[in-house]
Amino acid sequence: MKSNSSATKDTSLSKVKLESSRGRSRQYEQRLIAMGKKLDLCYNELKELTYAHLLHDGIKESSWLKNQTFDLHNWAANYSFIYLLFRILDKIEPRNILEFGLGQTTKLTTQYIVYKSPEAYLNVCEHSLDWIKIYQPELPKHEHIRINHLELEYFEYRRKKNDKYAGLLELLGDQKFDLIIVDGPVGGGKNLPRSNVVDLICHENLSEDFVIIFDDAGRAGEKNTIRRTQAALRKKAIAFQTFERFGIKRQAYIVSKSRAFVDFL
Ligand SMILES: C[S@@+](CC[C@H](N)C(=O)[O-])C[C@H]1O[C@@H](n2cnc3c(N)ncnc32)[C@H](O)[C@@H]1O
Repeated sequence: MKSNSSATKDTSLSKVKLESSRGRSRQYEQRLIAMGKKLDLCYNELKELTYAHLLHDGIKESSWLKNQTFDLHNWAANYSFIYLLFRILDKIEPRNILEFGLGQTTKLTTQYIVYKSPEAYLNVCEHSLDWIKIYQPELPKHEHIRINHLELEYFEYRRKKNDKYAGLLELLGDQKFDLIIVDGPVGGGKNLPRSNVVDLICHENLSEDFVIIFDDAGRAGEKNTIRRTQAALRKKAIAFQTFERFGIKRQAYIVSKSRAFVDFL
């Protein structure tokens, strides 16, 4: 029979063993989580490459996309975004486009107006004059294309400073848009970024048939703006569908029932 002191030793030994095996399983768990994240990243990269191929094949024979040079990295649109935007312009032929955030996407929208649908209209909103100075010379010009420099206005939402373009409703008046591209102003780290689109819905600036594209739909702030947009549509009793696409970044599409087929483009 074991003495009291050796039984105590046994118990503390098994406690030590238990603690170290718990420590090991915590380490395995953390390694598994890290591997899972890496796998997700690889999967996203793979999707991105697939969209890059789709884009290159899709635009080869395009009669209107004359400048096919894109720089899709850093803050710019990614391949999944540019690919579906190209398909939407090519197949749906929107009549009145509103674009938040000048850049790679504008290479597509401006060429669409100039070389495919010169009777359509494009309004681009950009807060950075420097950015306009860098980009505008690269873009084709047309009397239906307006690059609007807009100041930002600030508001607080859930204890964080947020911004949006100032004076937008006054600038646009009662125009109705059938394509709205939400990719500006700069969105990261904000709780309700890029919320001008919500104001536009309340102000009835949406056409009956519409497509709204949100870039960076994987971020918490943009998710809030998307939810607000959906709530504004419900309040106006406007029927809609939502779907997503992703490569290295994620886009959400909110479309009228009549444009539900965009999900299959
Ligand atoms: C997320 S970017 C996207 C702009 C555009 N839709 C595109 O596809 O490139 C939003 C804003 O970031 C700012 N910006 C600053 N540096 C930038 C960069 N290197 N690339 C793109 N946007 C940049 C611009 O003011 C722009 O409106």
